Amino acid sequence: MTQDQLKQAVAEAAVEYIRPKLYRDSIVGVGTGSTAALFIDELGKIKDEFKGAVASSDASARQLEDLGIEVYDLNSVNELIVYVDGADESNPQLELIKGGGAALTREKIVTAVAKEFICIADESKWVRVLGDFPLPVEVIPMARSYVARQLVKMGGRPIYREGVVTDNGNVILDVYDFDIPEPRKTETAINQIPGVVTNGLFALRPADVLLLGSADGVKEIHPGMT
Ligand code: A5P
Repeated sequence: MTQDQLKQAVAEAAVEYIRPKLYRDSIVGVGTGSTAALFIDELGKIKDEFKGAVASSDASARQLEDLGIEVYDLNSVNELIVYVDGADESNPQLELIKGGGAALTREKIVTAVAKEFICIADESKWVRVLGDFPLPVEVIPMARSYVARQLVKMGGRPIYREGVVTDNGNVILDVYDFDIPEPRKTETAINQIPGVVTNGLFALRPADVLLLGSADGVKEIHPGMT
């Protein structure tokens, strides 16, 4: 199977996974990226079974609206029954690196609100130790050079993602060659640097379940299972 077919398989599996949890007043949290986009298309097919969605990016909000799914401001929502999103890497604890699409801050906020975080990914995202994928860090523009120097002191090699401005008006530093054996500690430490909005480690709030597309089918993985 191609990577795109694996992504499509997990998008369909995610809809089947959440469907029994939905009721007519449910608001669904929806992520960003190519896998999430396939999920949104599948969600459109059952749009009469829930009330609407909160999106983690302007791009996903537009896609939802185009499908006729009502998009809500997170501030107007009391409860998000689930949040479904892709990832750039997942380890067996379902600690993630996210932010390849630069939407990490809104993704982390929506994740924090959701009762259940369902990660969807193809098997290329599965790793034992996080850090092969460069870690995205969203930074207030005036702090870019300062934050980069601090990240170098922490052992990483930050590269400015040229030409990218986040939905929040900030910039992204991608940290290469960064060993992340203790993701919770690294997530906390980077977030202490003045000027950092947040970083793409989702370890303090990992996924609750990972639907992982593989040649053997979609595997349902819970933290620490393998
Ligand atoms: C968006 O900012 C990211 O966190 C995405 O969830 C992540 O990059 C996965 O994207 P793909 O599904 O396109 O691989």
